[in-house]
Amino acid sequence: MTTLPQTVSTLPPSPPEVKSSDLLRSDFPANFTFGVATSAFQIEGATQEGGRGPSIWDTFCREPGRIRDGSNGDVACDHYHRLDEDLDLIARLNVSAYRFSVAWPRIQPTGTGPANEEGLAFYERLIDGLIERGLEPHLTLYHWDLPQALQDLGGWTHRDTAYRFAEYARIVAERLGPKVKSIATLNEPWCSSILSYQIGEHAPGWNSRPAALAAAHHLLLGHGLAMQEMRALNLGAELGLVLNLDSAYSDAPDDLPGVQLADGTFNRWFLDPVLRGQYPHDIWLHYGTDVPDVQAGDLKIMQTPLDFLGVNYYSRTFVSAAGRKPQGATYTDMGWEVYPQGLTDLLLRLHHSYSGLPPLLITENGAAYPDELGTDGQIHDSARVQYLQQHLSAVQEAMKAGVNVRGYFAWSLMDNFEWAYGYGKRFGLVYVDYQTQARTLKDSAKWYQGFLG
Ligand code: FCB
Repeated sequence: MTTLPQTVSTLPPSPPEVKSSDLLRSDFPANFTFGVATSAFQIEGATQEGGRGPSIWDTFCREPGRIRDGSNGDVACDHYHRLDEDLDLIARLNVSAYRFSVAWPRIQPTGTGPANEEGLAFYERLIDGLIERGLEPHLTLYHWDLPQALQDLGGWTHRDTAYRFAEYARIVAERLGPKVKSIATLNEPWCSSILSYQIGEHAPGWNSRPAALAAAHHLLLGHGLAMQEMRALNLGAELGLVLNLDSAYSDAPDDLPGVQLADGTFNRWFLDPVLRGQYPHDIWLHYGTDVPDVQAGDLKIMQTPLDFLGVNYYSRTFVSAAGRKPQGATYTDMGWEVYPQGLTDLLLRLHHSYSGLPPLLITENGAAYPDELGTDGQIHDSARVQYLQQHLSAVQEAMKAGVNVRGYFAWSLMDNFEWAYGYGKRFGLVYVDYQTQARTLKDSAKWYQGFLG
């Protein structure tokens, strides 16, 4: 029998009222981690420097019509050349931690073979720079920039990619693992499988459900294999996985099966193999003959224990077959509903539904708004300030109810390449002028700085 997830309710509760003055750093435990997050392809640029090989995103950006503003990651925020300046910027925000990703094609330009020393040296300099500034490095191994040479063999639909990923993980962990606080294997495998191989909105832009489900399976297998490789190194770093999760709701009983399906395909398809060692039965049946080829032992590998689970939360899913929208809702520039209560509900649901849940880190949370530099040279992004406050408050609610949340990373340190949207969507706490590469603290950055200071 299948049961509905605990967050399913027919009457969505209204968002909590949060006043900025309500929220204090001292309301969180002293050792709670506050940080900002980025990913390699979105900020680094220098795609043809330092021995880096091409990634699937370099290829995808060159296909007409894939990126809304026709842009690419060649320069991005030019972070590769502005590393020291950006590290100073992070330190100025008063955060204690920084989450970044390593570009696989900088380490292994074709996805296999010996490490490229220049690539490792770049990230070593980044990590040493963080440590010098008193900041904790949180490293993500895979934030979507698969080496193109592996895509040429089938990418994540090819089972061998999982084994290549584990090899890459070992190379990075051997060299950088002793210096970092945490290592996450994958960022958001839903995006690098379903969104990329079925919906076609992300690289490599395929439109096949069986391919997407094979990719999801191999991503989680690669995750488990990488965990095992890294465990064997006995590093001090905490090892985990980052998932994008949400809460699904409806306002009509007829929509409850739709809610269960949305929750199952988005959340449980990824949570259950990793935390329970099985695929959710209802969704397995739903996928019919498109289900992946699961070999003996795969689920056991995927279930390798985690030191932490990273949760990326932006919005909720509202299911209505009749096309109703939630009443009184507000939306960000992505068209994503602002729904902080969904984060509290999600955290409580994880806590109650998964026994042996590892400690949680909110590894991404934030909002895009159409920020502009004012005539006063400032960016008054009060909607983002409110978004951050409300979501931090939502985290706090869950913690009060007993959920073990260890940290929070705002997405993102600075405006950057927002995938298929190009540079049109601004998620940064820091504004980037792409003509000059000047960085300007938005009001949200100043608020975070003051809150943490
Ligand atoms: C997440 C991604 C991150 C960024 C935000 C807005 O899905 O992990 O790179 O694009 O969304």
